[in-house]
Amino acid sequence: MSKKVKVGIIGLGFMGTTHFQIHQNSGKSEIVAIADVNEEKLAGDWSSVVGNIGDFDYSKQIHLEGIKTYSNAMDLINNPDVDMVDICVPTFLHGKYAIAALKENKHVLCEKPIGRNLNDAMLITEEAEKSSKFFSNGLCVRYWPEYRHAFELYTSGKLGKVKSAVFKRVSPSIHGNAWEDWFMKEKLSGGALLDLHLHDTDLVRYFFGKPVSVTSFGMRGFRSDSGIDHVITNYDFGDDTLIMAEGGWDAAKSTPFEMSFQIVCEKGTIRLSEQSYKVIHEDGRIEEPKTGTEELPTGWHVEIDYFLSCIINNMKPDKYLSTEEMRESMAIIEAEELSIKEKRSVKIKY
Ligand SMILES: NC(=O)c1ccc[n+]([C@@H]2O[C@H](COP(=O)([O-])OP(=O)(O)OC[C@H]3O[C@@H](n4cnc5c(N)ncnc54)[C@H](O)[C@@H]3O)[C@@H](O)[C@H]2O)c1
Repeated sequence: MSKKVKVGIIGLGFMGTTHFQIHQNSGKSEIVAIADVNEEKLAGDWSSVVGNIGDFDYSKQIHLEGIKTYSNAMDLINNPDVDMVDICVPTFLHGKYAIAALKENKHVLCEKPIGRNLNDAMLITEEAEKSSKFFSNGLCVRYWPEYRHAFELYTSGKLGKVKSAVFKRVSPSIHGNAWEDWFMKEKLSGGALLDLHLHDTDLVRYFFGKPVSVTSFGMRGFRSDSGIDHVITNYDFGDDTLIMAEGGWDAAKSTPFEMSFQIVCEKGTIRLSEQSYKVIHEDGRIEEPKTGTEELPTGWHVEIDYFLSCIINNMKPDKYLSTEEMRESMAIIEAEELSIKEKRSVKIKY
């Protein structure tokens, strides 16, 4: 393997252009190819891209000299120069390109959700498990600095057992922001339940293990075909802890994006609220730990940096996330969907 990983990015929307910038500044990768169905984006005009976090100036012309451009993603996958395929297309296309890239013997980083449903997740992870190359899924909140600090503190046992935890993710409406408004089409995106709330479902699984059952409440109808636009779930672990998560994308366009949590443990509370991260101890001490670094300020940076390091050092990328956990989080989401539909608690089939 050459010193830098040669990367091909498929999909130049909010996520693909975010990954592009991270690769460009990483020092561990070189972008050799990009693919998109939009010719303007392939020509360096990214002015139509809209996202919820970050301050990239999309109005400027992007210089793509030396980078191969493809309107058909399969041609990028078949390019022998590409070592790693970075998949940032709408969710319903993940399975098609992830499986093709793995079969073509490429390393694959596929944005979250791994696929549109559990069946996609099974097919992709089975292919990944057969491959000698590496695969990971962009469940970036596992890598997000405050969440990492909280995970390490909680799992160290220093704060004792968890009593209750609430995770929250609320986005302003993204209606009209994306390619063919695909987020608003449940068949393509899975609605806010899969697209947004999956992050917190996955965190619940990551922090506390496998819940036995879920009881979810959901709101449909932001647009007639947009699916579950807002969800609140209680995760039952068969004990007396209270673990909840809420997610939705029905807030007004100008509402700031919110990701927050509070984990109440026997000896202290860990809280991220309005971008302020604190550990509040039972004895009255309040810590405000510094999280993240200048080089790796977000979970996206940590996730991509880690995956590139794994390729360079020939080390399986399973420190943060396994293929089994990718399937489990999708199984929990599908149980939440059924719980909303049938208005009852649903036992999760892993
Ligand atoms: N990890 C995160 O925090 C995060 C945040 C936002 C989105 N995402 C995920 O990233 C993925 C992309 O979302 P987005 O917000 O960038 O969407 P987007 O609509 O902004 O971008 C999608 C891009 O894919 C292109 N495209 C569509 N069909 C294509 C095809 N067949 N071949 C090549 N290009 C094609 C579109 O032209 C567009 O440029 C989704 O799976 C989404 O859930 C993850």
